[in-house]
Amino acid sequence: MKTLKFKNGDEMPAIGLGTWKSAKGEVAKAVKTAIQNGYRHIDCAATYGNEAEVGEALAEVLKEGIVKREELWITSKLWNNSHKKEDVLPALKQTLKDLQLDYLDLYLIHWPVAFKPGVAFPENDDDYLSLEEVPIIETWEAMIDAKKEGLTKHIGVSNFSQTKLEDLIKKTDDIPEMNQVELHPYLQQNELIEFCSKNNIHLTAYSPLGSGDRSDEMKAKDEPSLLENKVITTIAKKHGASPAQVIINWDTLRGTAVIPKSTNETRIIENLESTGVKLDEDDLQKIAELDDNFRYVTGKFFVTKGNSYKDIYDEE
Ligand code: A2P
Repeated sequence: MKTLKFKNGDEMPAIGLGTWKSAKGEVAKAVKTAIQNGYRHIDCAATYGNEAEVGEALAEVLKEGIVKREELWITSKLWNNSHKKEDVLPALKQTLKDLQLDYLDLYLIHWPVAFKPGVAFPENDDDYLSLEEVPIIETWEAMIDAKKEGLTKHIGVSNFSQTKLEDLIKKTDDIPEMNQVELHPYLQQNELIEFCSKNNIHLTAYSPLGSGDRSDEMKAKDEPSLLENKVITTIAKKHGASPAQVIINWDTLRGTAVIPKSTNETRIIENLESTGVKLDEDDLQKIAELDDNFRYVTGKFFVTKGNSYKDIYDEE
């Protein structure tokens, strides 16, 4: 299995199981199925609302001896309502309790946006804390403390633009080791990949398959389907592979980690088996041409007067 190497020698399996949108009542079975079939990397977050159930599955596979803790790579993320320095460690400890673990392999700041403590999802401008009230560096320094305490082996960020990474890097010697962002053939993130590579920051691709199971209010009416894209389906047919396998393989060839979500046993297995697909130069060229800077996750919901961002991704 391909891995991403960290500077202390730790290796993160390139393909992980995503758990965003994995329903309660389904996610434990998905995690167990994944680990039984060779997955060693599970991507979680407090805001997904299912960490306690993921934890039950982890406890079972560890107890049954299917894997050892040190063979697993578990990522989780700090929710936006716990950015104040005094709130970071308690949030991480709650995640560890839910996941039934002593430590995480990787803990990420989920978004560069802070909500007031207790706000699960903002309803108006008053629900935000401004960047003056909680600068990102304050949250980041608490993340560094969490690492020093041994609660997580690595720390990083998610949904950070190059501009936001540059701002943070200027203020700390202990820079993020990971940036998890939306990344797929319609949003190839070439500039961010280049910037991160120069700065020894790994990338993880979320929504790699186009996240067709998002709720209706999160979807644009006319959003394109990635898995039904003609270029992707034609390449898939050529290799006797599925469209999802083509995309996951493309991700790993570009050196990023990728976390396809599935709660279906056949598709969980199929996604890990994407390593067998052999994309050629012609396939890669055709996929490169699909880049359109198109986002499924617009982040518009985090742009208000309260947090002083015009555009969360700094593109406008
Ligand atoms: P399911 O969970 O029923 O398998 P993303 O990872 O981009 O968020 O996409 C997740 C969506 O893609 C879910 O709807 C998931 O459905 C679906 N999916 C996951 N793997 C595959 C696959 N191999 N083929 C088709 N759809 C898939």
